[in-house]
Amino acid sequence: MDISDIAKQINPSPTRRLFDMAAAYTDTIDFTLGDPDVMPPLQIRNAACDAIMEGKTRYSANAGLIELRRVIAKSIKKRNGISYNPDGEIAVTIGAMEALYVSLLCLLNKDDEVIILEPYWINYRQMVSMCGGKAVIVNEFEDKERFLISADAIEAAVTPRTKAIIINTPNNPSGIVYSESFMARIADIAKKYDITVITDEVYRELTYDGLKYTSILDFEGMRERTVLVYSFSKEFAMTGWRIGYVAGPEKLISAVTRLQENIVACAPLASQYGVISALADDEFDSREIIEEFTKRRDIVIKEVSDIPKLKMLPPEGTFYAFINISGTGMDAETFAYKLLETKHVAVVPGGAYGECSKNYIRIAFTLDEEKIREGFSRIREFTASV
Ligand SMILES: Cc1ncc(COP(=O)(O)O)c(C=O)c1O
Repeated sequence: MDISDIAKQINPSPTRRLFDMAAAYTDTIDFTLGDPDVMPPLQIRNAACDAIMEGKTRYSANAGLIELRRVIAKSIKKRNGISYNPDGEIAVTIGAMEALYVSLLCLLNKDDEVIILEPYWINYRQMVSMCGGKAVIVNEFEDKERFLISADAIEAAVTPRTKAIIINTPNNPSGIVYSESFMARIADIAKKYDITVITDEVYRELTYDGLKYTSILDFEGMRERTVLVYSFSKEFAMTGWRIGYVAGPEKLISAVTRLQENIVACAPLASQYGVISALADDEFDSREIIEEFTKRRDIVIKEVSDIPKLKMLPPEGTFYAFINISGTGMDAETFAYKLLETKHVAVVPGGAYGECSKNYIRIAFTLDEEKIREGFSRIREFTASV
């Protein structure tokens, strides 16, 4: 049996490779996956269990339960200040991943180009290839230390084939939050060249120190050219529940719904009921999860500052620390594999996120405090020995 050319292009990500290798040891501290170890709020778990026990276990509409789309519309209005029609402009998806993939499938013709900014979440590149498109990577920086991409370089990357640009802020892996002025430039470029902006806002609720968040949707004239992707995986620690959504112009969402019918039918029903219970309840509060990550982020900042060969910008959002390891004299691949072999600590080498981060490793602080401290104690020993 021969497999397709597209399938041949797709490789497992280094994140998964390291994660699988880490499983070979019994005492591994695994910092690889952005998969929170905290429980989803009890209210969500109860609502999902009730749904199952009440036999709400069948298919829903392809775009998701209308009750869910209504509360999603309410939450987008609260968060982004924009109204979306639940009946036509929102589709519930299998997490942000399916939202992104199906949206790209609906937008791209063969060889259409999609601009992706470094450092990027690797799946964007692969998804664009899976849809027959071409990823155009921008990695010229105004300020490399702060991962501040040059907006001029983005504009210079636009060609007649440019269909979309993907923005992810707060950013995985760098942990930075794009500034308002940077977002304003993206909006101007999108309008000038008639480009769709896919805004992946899955870490939106995870920002620190009261930092102001700017969405591309905050700018005049962007609603009609924006695809808003969100997920409950991170905010409510529901990664395995596989639930998110895409909101956008009716033409796109109608196409997403038609494709979704042929791929997954709908998102899992119990997950849909779980999310309804959270979003429909004005008293519901997920601050506990955010407070937990704030505590862990502070520990990581302190641990990194105590290791002379490591440097890091404090994460402004997400639960990732992006650490510069050039002080060790090693490239990130060598660092990551040696660290795993000798100290049984798994981290992701930065090359996975583009050229710019070959001297970086990514650490997901999705582990409890004790494991984070133990992990850094082993990293300290490791860096002292090289
Ligand atoms: C930037 C980004 N977007 C999307 C996703 C996928 O999230 P989901 O679990 O909702 O599919 C992730 C997961 O790590 C992510 O980091």
